[in-house]
Amino acid sequence: MNAHDGGTADSVAFLAVASAEAASACGPIGGLQAFLSPGEIAASRRFRRTEDQTDYQASHALFRLLAAWSLGLSPREAAALPVARRCGGCGGTDHGKPSVPGVCLSLSRSHGAVMVAAGPEGSILGADIERLPEQVFDGFDDFTAAPSERALLRSASVTDRMLLWVAKEAVLKAAGVGLAVEPSSVALAFNGGTHGSRRTGLRTAVCPGRPEIHGLEVRPVTAPPGYVAAVSSGARLPAHRLSLPEMFATSLQTSNV
Ligand SMILES: CC(C)(COP(=O)(O)OP(=O)(O)OC[C@H]1O[C@@H](n2cnc3c(N)ncnc32)[C@H](O)[C@@H]1OP(=O)(O)O)[C@@H](O)C(=O)NCCC(=O)NCCS
Repeated sequence: MNAHDGGTADSVAFLAVASAEAASACGPIGGLQAFLSPGEIAASRRFRRTEDQTDYQASHALFRLLAAWSLGLSPREAAALPVARRCGGCGGTDHGKPSVPGVCLSLSRSHGAVMVAAGPEGSILGADIERLPEQVFDGFDDFTAAPSERALLRSASVTDRMLLWVAKEAVLKAAGVGLAVEPSSVALAFNGGTHGSRRTGLRTAVCPGRPEIHGLEVRPVTAPPGYVAAVSSGARLPAHRLSLPEMFATSLQTSNV
């Protein structure tokens, strides 16, 4: 299904970059808005702060560009790709998890950085990126950690706590439910406690009452300095970090843009 080496046929490709970096990479080829639908351009204007507008535009432009890259299309075709939405909570189609036929996708943004991930069609995928705060909010451990995880968090750093947060959000986004399901109702187990899974950080979601969540896998992935990120998938797929130059170089080779 994918025209590119290292694409999404049997792996997850993801970008996690500063929004400003995405904006400057798109600058010479029309800017972020050249890769957005009119609806997304209008939606970005709801944000009062320019930085938030840039984050929104960068996340949706990269979502479309990664979809086009995964499908072997030219970047010029990105803006016209049909993006549908579905909320796993209420079934609504005007909000919730976005999708493009032929590829599985997820997007996230957080205060100056964006992340998009793509996997094979029919797979299950969730991505989350967060800027590291100075401190977590009051009640973070009870809201985020399952009872079995709380003792481990007692001496954990902010980074470790945020790594748990992005892992939970990635799982809940992969399941399509988001925070409609409390993160503390899902435990993340190292697979059989093996050294391998502890080293790679690969965990499995334990939530027997929710079949769409139970058994999803999640791992931390590389993010820009000052951020943490995670990718969750239904099957154990290798995750490959793609750079903006790599994505554009491959797209440009396979198209006339
Ligand atoms: C999904 C959610 C966890 C993301 O929170 P966040 O960390 O603030 O935001 P992120 O930047 O990481 O992700 C936002 C993106 O997640 C995607 N998303 C939204 N809802 C989603 C869902 N249910 N499942 C998977 N992805 C979802 C969208 O692409 C969204 O960006 P967009 O609206 O600009 O397209 C949060 O928005 C949420 O819980 N939403 C659902 C709440 C809900 O169920 N409400 C009831 C509606 S009936």
